[in-house]
Amino acid sequence: MRRPFICGNWKMNKDRESALSLVRGILLGITPELGERVDIGVAPPFVYLPIVSAVIEGTPVKLSAQDVFWEKEGAFTGEVSPYMLKDLGCTYCIVGHSERRIYFGETDEHVNKKVKALLEACITPIVCVGEKLEEREEGRVFEVVSQQVKGALNSVEISSGEELVIAYEPVWAIGTGKVATPEIAQEVHSYIRSLLKETIGDVAEKVRILYGGSVKPDNIAGLIEQPDIDGALVGGASLKAESFCEIIKVAGGM
Ligand code: PGA
Repeated sequence: MRRPFICGNWKMNKDRESALSLVRGILLGITPELGERVDIGVAPPFVYLPIVSAVIEGTPVKLSAQDVFWEKEGAFTGEVSPYMLKDLGCTYCIVGHSERRIYFGETDEHVNKKVKALLEACITPIVCVGEKLEEREEGRVFEVVSQQVKGALNSVEISSGEELVIAYEPVWAIGTGKVATPEIAQEVHSYIRSLLKETIGDVAEKVRILYGGSVKPDNIAGLIEQPDIDGALVGGASLKAESFCEIIKVAGGM
């Protein structure tokens, strides 16, 4: 049984005060029972990681970064290493988000280096994959996703499967309000699971595969009941404590 995982990706939003009030609001909305049923993460911008980390310490809410650089230290102006993230208490780190691929030229090779560096630092990578609208229209969904998953995991050692999370985020569904239907998402999730089996073997059953793209309180139920959808990476709806907590409750069956 895979425990559901809901992670909020705040992207480049919030300031010090509103980041603190969001995370405090989330903590108020999460009962200990819910924290037992669902793994919960928040991914604030780098600069707010320390203040959010201090507030969530000892609670069921875990810290995620939105990106990382693969080197341990050195002359890499503007970059942040996995060890710095670990130092701040990060449990997870998003890599290969489509916004990074599109605006910052991130490639599967970069994602692969980041995954390896994160695993070495004992941080769970949340590897984002997903096709663009034109790729779906050309019937290339499996081809694109396969290249991204295999590229990200190229010569990566996975031992238990729990140390890896994949997020399927069709680019056409991100921030657009156009959520993939549960059936469309399940089709790709099950394909990703079969790819994982080929790549890392039976531990693929332990890897959580999240769906991302316009997840809201009113569409999470249909998604989470699918056999290969193990949670969600939530953008817009994670910026308000009320909607984020509602998504977590539904995912926890409460
Ligand atoms: P969205 O973003 O929920 O606002 O569509 C999801 C994501 O980009 O992770």
